[in-house]
Amino acid sequence: MHDFHYYQNELYCEEVPITKIADEVGTPFYLYSFHTLENHFKVFDSAFDGIDHLTCFSIKAASNLAILKTFINLGGGVDIVSGGELFRALNANVAPNKIVFSGVGKQIKELEYALTTGILMFNVESSSELTILNQVAGRLGKKAHIALRVNPHIDPKTHPYISTGLKKNKFGIETTQAIENYQAVKKLEHVESIGIDCHIGSQITELSPFVEALRKVKELVQLLKKENIEIKYLDLGGGLGITYQQEQPPHPKEYAEVLIEEMKDLNCTLILEPGRVIVGNAGILVSKVLYLKQGTEKSFVIVDAAMNDLIRPSLYAAFQAIQPVVNTGGEEMVVDIVGPICESGDFLAQDRKITCLKPNDLIAVMSAGAYGFTMSSNYNSRPRAPEILVRGKEFHVIRERESYGDLKTGIPDSE
Ligand code: LLP
Repeated sequence: MHDFHYYQNELYCEEVPITKIADEVGTPFYLYSFHTLENHFKVFDSAFDGIDHLTCFSIKAASNLAILKTFINLGGGVDIVSGGELFRALNANVAPNKIVFSGVGKQIKELEYALTTGILMFNVESSSELTILNQVAGRLGKKAHIALRVNPHIDPKTHPYISTGLKKNKFGIETTQAIENYQAVKKLEHVESIGIDCHIGSQITELSPFVEALRKVKELVQLLKKENIEIKYLDLGGGLGITYQQEQPPHPKEYAEVLIEEMKDLNCTLILEPGRVIVGNAGILVSKVLYLKQGTEKSFVIVDAAMNDLIRPSLYAAFQAIQPVVNTGGEEMVVDIVGPICESGDFLAQDRKITCLKPNDLIAVMSAGAYGFTMSSNYNSRPRAPEILVRGKEFHVIRERESYGDLKTGIPDSE
């Protein structure tokens, strides 16, 4: 559910007509609903009320401070994968003991930053990372609390680029090597294991891969107990999918019910790292039609947003629903909706049926709140779009549109 809806043929975000925002800030822009963000977080988090848990929003999905603060104010923690995300999280005032640090290639300066901050735990992905973390912690006079991220070899049945829990993926430590790695931790003076972690992929629309993964992790927790290695935190990662088109992912309540059932004999705090399910349908990308072009094989609607603004269709062949902001009904056309970038891979939709559009019409690319702005770039030297947050009758620019001044890199001014 989300708060984008038509009223008298005009698309609104909560109580604000989107045309009004476009008039004031120009296009393209990302637009989020505060109410949807808050509601999605509450629904997800409260679904786990029955057990000890911590919901750590995965910052990579949406990293604007105003968005992060929304979840932090509701008691959430964060899942970070870089020093930059740690910096953002701290600026959004998250409690350090609600931060988990994931990622296969943490740099030494990032380890130092996180150790100095005093985060809850590092999700370690290799024995080599353990060795370095031990050295860095020793040098700083700190103790690093860790979970080992294990790779349970489960097919999450999603796009291959966002499957992470298969043996061929670079992530985690194979389950067969987990125990020996935990034993190795015992010998490290500056590292202490407190948890276990796994994340099998993203945009997962069935429950069974999560349950299978949790069962494999549970087996390891039992084996570790026999070795006198106590696991206080079980981090199951993120991955719950959303509806972009026809998908029918489980509701967070159903997801929580099966996980709670599996967790009941474990005596661990469950950590979750949702990203997409919280923000995906809470944000859209608004763009303006520039030109129409009728070819002999294809018709094109050329808009002012491009693959630098939203790369998901180009990169994953992802479907994003597209709606006219003012829906006058009328005839439909089948078109490719493309951006100004000099690549044929620059499209937002291909062979898409949509109400006939004309120059200056606005379109809304739906479900763009997750991995939309955060994956945007300056490709073709295009300034990045602003981010706008609607709350009731008001809207706020939570990130300014970049200007040409922001592109002035490479040659120092003095030369
Ligand atoms: N935890 C870890 C360790 C992750 O790697 C990810 C996502 C998450 C949590 C959050 O997963 P979510 O709940 O959002 O599915 N750019 C791609 C998605 C990449 C996901 C990467 N990892 C896309 O646009 O579909």
